[in-house]
Amino acid sequence: MNRRIDHIGLAVPSIAEALRFWSALGLAVDHVEEVPQEGVRVAMIRVGESRIELLEPTRPDSAVAKFLAGRGPGIHHLCLASDDVAADDARLRAAGVELVRAAPTPGAGGSRVQFVHPRSAGGVLVELAQASPGEAS
Ligand code: CO
Repeated sequence: MNRRIDHIGLAVPSIAEALRFWSALGLAVDHVEEVPQEGVRVAMIRVGESRIELLEPTRPDSAVAKFLAGRGPGIHHLCLASDDVAADDARLRAAGVELVRAAPTPGAGGSRVQFVHPRSAGGVLVELAQASPGEAS
């Protein structure tokens, strides 16, 4: 099993604004995409083998918009790469871990994702992401 940190998700009011800092560090955006089912626009910044994911809400009722309203900008979630997110889903359920969704769902970049509820993960929202077969991440 290949456990590594795929990315760290940061909630930001504006990707353009946030990029002033990250680009000053010499980092560049891989790609930007909208994930309409999540109500977010996502900018991925490669950092070595890992990535930073900037999450800008596109709807006031999205989870990221609510996070920003409640807590302000900051670290939103930690994402671990998964070789098989359906298997992780089943294993965690069997272990009594609380998952956010009934089953893995489509995520950014053609990935399949599931989230572990912060109640089951020491207060941290943990994303598990299985890359799309086409994407060597
Ligand atoms: Co993420």
